[in-house]
Amino acid sequence: MDFTIRNTGVLVSVVVFIFWYIGQSIRVAKFKKQNGCRPICNRLPQLERVVGVDLYRTQINASKDGRILELAKSRYDTHGMTWSARMMGQTYVNTIDIENIKAILASNFKDFGLGQRQEAFGAMLGQGIFTTDGAKWEHSRALVRPNFTRAQVADLNSFEIHIQQFISKIPRDGSTVDLQPLFFRLTLDTATEFLFGESVRSLNSTEGSEEDHFQQAYDLAQSRLANRGRLGKLICLYRDKEFDAACKTVHQFVDKIIFRSLEKLHPRDAEKSIDGNGQPERYVFLTEMLKSTTDPKQLRDELLNILLAGRDTTASLLSNTFHVLARRPDIWKKLKVEVDGLRGMKPDYETLRNMKYIKYLLNESLRLYPVVPNNARFANKDTVLPRGGGPNGESPIFIKKGGIVAYHVYAMHRRTDIYGPDANEFRPERWASDLRPSWGYLPFNGGPRICVGQQFALTEASYTIVRLLQAFGGIDDRDRSEWIEQLSLTCCSANGVKVALNPR
Ligand code: HEM
Repeated sequence: MDFTIRNTGVLVSVVVFIFWYIGQSIRVAKFKKQNGCRPICNRLPQLERVVGVDLYRTQINASKDGRILELAKSRYDTHGMTWSARMMGQTYVNTIDIENIKAILASNFKDFGLGQRQEAFGAMLGQGIFTTDGAKWEHSRALVRPNFTRAQVADLNSFEIHIQQFISKIPRDGSTVDLQPLFFRLTLDTATEFLFGESVRSLNSTEGSEEDHFQQAYDLAQSRLANRGRLGKLICLYRDKEFDAACKTVHQFVDKIIFRSLEKLHPRDAEKSIDGNGQPERYVFLTEMLKSTTDPKQLRDELLNILLAGRDTTASLLSNTFHVLARRPDIWKKLKVEVDGLRGMKPDYETLRNMKYIKYLLNESLRLYPVVPNNARFANKDTVLPRGGGPNGESPIFIKKGGIVAYHVYAMHRRTDIYGPDANEFRPERWASDLRPSWGYLPFNGGPRICVGQQFALTEASYTIVRLLQAFGGIDDRDRSEWIEQLSLTCCSANGVKVALNPR
């Protein structure tokens, strides 16, 4: 009797599923037809496309060898602008087609989200601008965005203290120094100064101090994020005690700063930003945020989201740029002419904006060595991308709900049809021409989620370059290796930036 009931139950479920499946297939077929979708013909050749274990292995090996970006570029050279591949049970649509990237990031923005980023990063970063989607993200963005106006990014005085610390760590006797770890310390110090109003002074911190513990815990936690991101849905099964302990240390440190600020806050003061002498106060992001929210958890989440988004990115930009400078005396020379034009004066925001060669240099560095070289978005409903279907790849393609679209800024920035036959060459002067790559140049992303810290980062990087060249007249490469990628959440040089700097 029981057996018959159970069998009937199973049968009913199977029949319901079959009807649901047929209904879905008809609906999807109609949707595809209405939108003129055609299948993607360009597929990455694989041993099997059921799970796609071979591709996973290839990617892991390429990652170990620091050639994952070049491998991806070669695939675009071979298989065209848009192609599909299967890896660990997921189908990836890969694209460097500008029309598709524009659709994901702007015109079709609402159909795409960040996928599992919240689950992977949430333990460290909570829910803030960098980790959330939809209404939560809109709220975060509205809260954070007004704090990146010109007045804030133009405050170079507090930055100067850290630059001087940075310069004091560089040997003046011609011995070799790796600038990369120093850049990472510098940007941690400036970012914490800007965000918390108190720098962790990692360039000068005492071993065992609270700041030192924070820095170590922060670096450890962050170094685990990229791997957590790769685990996708499996993240809920993954345990990492070191990561959990590091997150706790980071949270306790930031919470203390927040509670101190909250204690100091008098409701009457919340709208003010003028000190007792009538002078504008030094800009502190946390203090500005307190005008909109006093929720300690939200404050911590937003601060950590921005610290993550802003610290490694700027350090990587500086590292990649100095990796080039050490190998290109011609570029160093032109840069020096521009910096010498300041006659040793500290530049202000306006002066920096008018320094054309530095701008071209940073543009070119971000083009050939984009700090966020690959990225992805996840469809949150059945949707369409404008191109990639049919034999010539020019018809729209269907992306089903949950589908992953990966876009490759590194390969796109090397497209010869956008940048000309010398696209692979490092040539800052190309930006002096009427080059307008528009969506073909995306170091800071585009659309509603465009980087809020772009001006902050460019100001900080330009200021660092000027002050360094004012202190040192020459640079020698002490490594002779080619640039090899070190790719985690951002991308810098696997061999660091080993140089000798010659004092003026
Ligand atoms: C060279 C330096 C930088 C580069 C290349 C860069 C690049 C990017 C990119 C590509 C994104 C999009 C990420 C995604 O949505 O998947 C992004 C987002 C973001 N960046 Fe930057 N960034 C830099 C510096 C900064 C700085 C200094 C800050 C803050 C102080 C900052 C704050 C943010 C924030 C908050 C977001 C998230 C925006 C949102 O989702 O609405 N970035 N950045």
